[in-house]
Amino acid sequence: MVSEKWVLALLLLQLCYTGCGNCGKVLVWPCDMSHWLNLKIILEELTEKGHEVTVLAASNNFAIDYIKPSKLNFEVVPMAISREETLNNLNDFLELAVNVIPDLPYWKAAMKLNEFFIQTTTIMKLLCENVIYNQTLMKKLKDTEYNIMLIDPVMPCGDLLAELLTVPFVYTLRVSMGSIMEKYCGQIPSPPSFVPVPMLGLSDRMTFLERVKNVMFSFFFDFWLQQYDFRFWDQFYTEALGKPTTLCETMGKAEIWLIRTYWDFEFPRPYLPNFEFVGGLHCKPAKPLPKDMEEFVQSSGEHGVVVFSLGSMVKNLTEEKANLIASALAQVPQKVLWRYKGIKPTTLGANTRLYDWIPQNDLLGHPKTKAFITHGGTNGIYEAIYHGVPMVGVPMFADQPDNIAHMKAKGAAVDVNMNTMTSADLLNALRTVINDPSYKESAMRLSRIHHDQPVKPLDRAVFWIEFVMRHKGAKHLRPAAHDLTWFQYHSLDVIGFLLACVAIAIFLVAKCCLFSCQKFGKTGKKKKRE
Ligand SMILES: *[C@@H]1O[C@H](CO)[C@@H](O)[C@H](O)[C@H]1NC(C)=O
Ligand SMILES: *[C@@H]1O[C@H](CO)[C@@H](O)[C@H](O)[C@H]1NC(C)=O
Repeated sequence: MVSEKWVLALLLLQLCYTGCGNCGKVLVWPCDMSHWLNLKIILEELTEKGHEVTVLAASNNFAIDYIKPSKLNFEVVPMAISREETLNNLNDFLELAVNVIPDLPYWKAAMKLNEFFIQTTTIMKLLCENVIYNQTLMKKLKDTEYNIMLIDPVMPCGDLLAELLTVPFVYTLRVSMGSIMEKYCGQIPSPPSFVPVPMLGLSDRMTFLERVKNVMFSFFFDFWLQQYDFRFWDQFYTEALGKPTTLCETMGKAEIWLIRTYWDFEFPRPYLPNFEFVGGLHCKPAKPLPKDMEEFVQSSGEHGVVVFSLGSMVKNLTEEKANLIASALAQVPQKVLWRYKGIKPTTLGANTRLYDWIPQNDLLGHPKTKAFITHGGTNGIYEAIYHGVPMVGVPMFADQPDNIAHMKAKGAAVDVNMNTMTSADLLNALRTVINDPSYKESAMRLSRIHHDQPVKPLDRAVFWIEFVMRHKGAKHLRPAAHDLTWFQYHSLDVIGFLLACVAIAIFLVAKCCLFSCQKFGKTGKKKKRE
């Protein structure tokens, strides 16, 4: 008895010292920019729990700070392109998306965007080659024997690397272009009658014409887009693995898909057991504001404040647009905190202050905050949901129009078209959101839904990552749909077979009838003659 107790005590002691029995090695294939901010929260939590996390960072990544000391390990992949160049490319793109494209005819805009995508693909291919064809690096990664890879699939190649290293992998993403990846590679069911194709800004309750549009775009993404970019990567993956494969087939091997939304944001839709919705995992209670900012916020009195940010990427607007916005802001009784780096607009009101950077989460959590003017990035929207702040959306590109459409459908936001808006449009939208109590109520309702979850999103994300490490995968959640061809998936072969059976049966019955009728006819005639 005594010895048993001692053994138990020793075991417990050992557990305390080593921290965790299931600590593993995690390799991360990240994506730059706002995606990284979100992923970093998960990685920090993993290191906190004792896992060893290594991030493969391209040397030209700028949001991923691989130089600053941190608990994360970085394996920097040398790239021929510098951080400055990447940043310039990005700024060019933003300039294009925000200030140029809205004024271009549709086909010119499409061509410009196409140019940009081709350029991005070239850089992504370069990064991929620098990893998988670098023998030294590959040997080092192989010898480390990682337990899991965590991958942001916006940049292809992470899954390819996992396949080469034979490591199970987990995805983390918001939504891919037209949902192609989740739908085709993850096999998530998306009936176009009530699951809107992302990027169109539709809600789940569509009119007949909207459903027509949704089905058409669904086909468009099915056939046209899939052909374009995927073919390039199919070939690349086939060469790298030395066996015929496709990007989608490789992506379909993901054990778990961590989606960065939740039912406070998403429309109810069918999903699969290996999809986990962990939106808002980065949200935290507000901390106190810096002293001068708090004074400014308090000076607003009962009117409260408006927080305005177009995200970390958009730095400057055209002078005209900035003036238009500033003059609308000048007319509200609220104080306004505007994150803006461009030249100070001449129409800036006394109630508006410009900041290079704002503690957005802390401001949104401040009791004086009445509204949030946002470009509609998922991170910002989730902070607004978390704190129950109604929004005015001025979406510009990527998933932003779609995000705002979700918030609008749920009654927590009003949208304004950034390209065509007048000062009055913005002012009216802002007044509506602040003065019509239904927006605040909707935002609070979403907030309550968000907070009332059995397990917090971050904990769920970490749970599934650790689950995959413990069980070396999550194959029990993998739907058999992955092993079917598209006509098997839709049971077209079965329908064809059944139709054939019916056709044969009809044919046989008809033949019999004809035969017996003829016979009956003959005997009938015979009887008559008699
Ligand atoms: C290959 O990887 C090693 C180890 O990470 C690195 O030191 C080296 O610079 C890389 N070589 C090339 C050509 O990128
Ligand atoms: C934004 O700033 C960049 C340089 O910082 C400048 O080249 C560009 O013209 C500016 N764009 C607008 C619309 O003011």
